[in-house]
Amino acid sequence: MPIQVEQLGQTFFAVVKGIDAREPTPREDVRSIVDAIDDHGVLLFPGQTLNEEQHMAFSRQFGELEVTYQKGRKRRLRAEFADASNLGADGELLAPNSERAKYNRANQLWHSDASFRAIPSKYSFLYAETVASKDGETEFADERGGWDALDEERKNRAEGMVAGHSLMTSRIKTGFKTFTPEEQESLKPVPQSVVRTHDPKGRKNLYLGSHAGEVYGEDPETGVKFLEELLEFTTQPQFVYCHKWSVGDLVMWDNRRVMHRGRPWDENEPRIMRRTTLVGDGPTVVDGRPINEAEYLRLKLS
Ligand code: OGA
Ligand code: MN
Repeated sequence: MPIQVEQLGQTFFAVVKGIDAREPTPREDVRSIVDAIDDHGVLLFPGQTLNEEQHMAFSRQFGELEVTYQKGRKRRLRAEFADASNLGADGELLAPNSERAKYNRANQLWHSDASFRAIPSKYSFLYAETVASKDGETEFADERGGWDALDEERKNRAEGMVAGHSLMTSRIKTGFKTFTPEEQESLKPVPQSVVRTHDPKGRKNLYLGSHAGEVYGEDPETGVKFLEELLEFTTQPQFVYCHKWSVGDLVMWDNRRVMHRGRPWDENEPRIMRRTTLVGDGPTVVDGRPINEAEYLRLKLS
C-alpha cells in the first residue's frame, strides 16, 4: 500500500503513515518521502519501535550518516548518534547543574543541526524512547515560510549575506565555557549563507540559528542584531509547529530549511531521545559568496 502524507498545521509539518521503519523502505516510498520533505520540511512517522541499528539503517536510506560531535570522550550511544536525553554515559540521570546538562541545554535555543560544519547537515531523525510526563516538546520553525513573507527591504539586505557559525557560540549562550585550545581551533566559525537555495524547485529560505555569531563585512553588533531580527521574524507563531512527543515517534526534518528547539521539562524525569543526522550535499558558500546549491550540485554531478 502506498504511503500517505497528511499535512498538519498551516504551512508545513506532515505525518507519514504506512511506514514500518524497522524494514527496508521500498525505493518508490523513499522517493515519495524525499518529495514530501522538500514540500513540508518536517515529517512524523508515528508508532515506531526502533533499536539503534534499525534507526541507523532507516536513516541511511536517505544518505550518509554524520559522526556527531560530542564533547568529552564517554558516550551513552554510538558515535553516529547525538544524545538528546538527559542521561549520562552511565545511563543515570544527569544532575541539572552539571556541565553536560548545560551543554545539552543549548538544544533549547533555535538552531539547525551542525550549521557549524563547512558542509552543514541535511536531514536529522529524532526518535522518542521515553517522553517526559509533561512539557519537553520540540518546536520547528519554517524558514521558507519566513523568507516568503519577509519584506523586500530585508530580503535585499539578507541576500548575499554570509554569517559565521560556531558550536562555541551556542554553547557559550547557555553558560558552557570550558573549551580546550584544540577545541577552539577545530570549532572556529565557518561561513554560511543567510539565504539558501538548495531546493530542487529553486525555492529560497532563511538559514539562521544560535550557532551564528557574526556577519562577515558588517560590524559585529549591527550584523548580529539583523540576524536576531530575522530569527524573530521566522519564529512567529504562524511559522512554528510544536510537536508533543509520544513514545515511538520518529521525526525527520530538513536542517537546510527548518530550525528547531527543544522545550524545557522537569529534568528530574528522564526524557530519552536519540538522533541520527545525514551529511549535507555541499557548502552554502564558495570563495566567500553564497551559491545556489541546487545549481552547484547539478554542476558537481554532471
Ligand atoms: C536535536 C535537538 C531537541 C529536543 O536532537 O537535535 O535539538 O527537543 N533536540 O530534544
Ligand atoms: Mn538539534
